[in-house]
Amino acid sequence: MLYFAPISRWKGISLARYARITGWGKYLPEKVLTNKDLERLVDTTEAWILARTGIKERRIAADDETASSMAVHAARQALKVAKLSPDSLDLVITATCTPDLIFPASAALVQHELGAENAAAFDLNAACSGFIYALATASQFIASGTYTNILVLGSEVYSRILDWQDRSTCILFGDGAGAVVMQASDTPPGSLNFVLGNDGSGVDLIYTPGPCGTNKGPYYIKMSGSEVFKFAVNIICLATRQVAKSANLDLKDIELIVPHQANTRIIKAAAKFLEIPAGKFFVNVDKYGNTSAASVPIALCEAVEAGRLRNGDHVVLVGFGGGLSWAAMLLEWGAGRKL
Ligand code: COA
Repeated sequence: MLYFAPISRWKGISLARYARITGWGKYLPEKVLTNKDLERLVDTTEAWILARTGIKERRIAADDETASSMAVHAARQALKVAKLSPDSLDLVITATCTPDLIFPASAALVQHELGAENAAAFDLNAACSGFIYALATASQFIASGTYTNILVLGSEVYSRILDWQDRSTCILFGDGAGAVVMQASDTPPGSLNFVLGNDGSGVDLIYTPGPCGTNKGPYYIKMSGSEVFKFAVNIICLATRQVAKSANLDLKDIELIVPHQANTRIIKAAAKFLEIPAGKFFVNVDKYGNTSAASVPIALCEAVEAGRLRNGDHVVLVGFGGGLSWAAMLLEWGAGRKL
């Protein structure tokens, strides 16, 4: 699906409402699990993991940490950057597939902890594409004139759904949270377009059973690594091309791509097929592994902090994952006049 934002109606007046990211934050648990540490858990080597994935280490949540508690840390940073108080939020969306509870939503716990008493709250599960799905959802609430200030989170504790005896999966993932504040503006810049998609025929290529299905557990992630790898490379290329084209942009007009951080080989292959210099892709998978729905907001936050985005830059966020789902969003970065 393609959506051409941002023209909409607002309170009965024909007005362009741009949805702009005005705050960003991240949280990574303290505990570091290195590839060397994994050598003691499964039949693997530090060198194999680095060569096949680009990952050097990942973070593991403490026993008392959850998707919501990590999201709160990231959210506080993002609100501080946006200079927005929690009670000004209209909506909290948490993208996660490792929620604290089956219900209520982790977003409800976050809302309460932040004191965002005027906000609606819900979780969104589109696996590793979840954050961009959530950002696209937020942009629509803004474009429609429904909401002005939205907190969008990605937070995951995959360490709790990993089989620590399965070397093909436990080496890949890590825990963490990222957050952005998205606000309405009557002037650009802001989000330009997004592409969302899903191919349910690939559900069994990467999934985690749960207690509400027919599977009796244990509830560990299952994955066909090489199939997912091929899907990932293809879909990054397709979604990036689609989202750029829908805004009449050429790939050379994109200053930065922030891809889902799963594997440096996936990112390098996509860069090669797209004929985009690999340096235009922001990469931090070496430090955190694959943090699923948290990976894009954590990477975006670090890209901004590293000075990789300037006003007027075009940035593509692109993700893929279980579903098989995918999502890409094109943003024009920078400051402007808010509503
Ligand atoms: N250490 C050492 N050897 C390992 C290993 C590990 N941690 N994991 C798998 N192997 C072995 C396999 O058993 C296989 O051995 P065999 O040839 O004797 O059967 C060999 O390495 C090659 O396995 P293969 O699965 O072909 O490796 P690969 O190069 O495809 O790399 C992944 C495996 C998982 C790293 C890679 O497929 C991948 O990254 N896939 C995408 C996963 C992903 O991104 N998932 C999340 C999407 S959101």
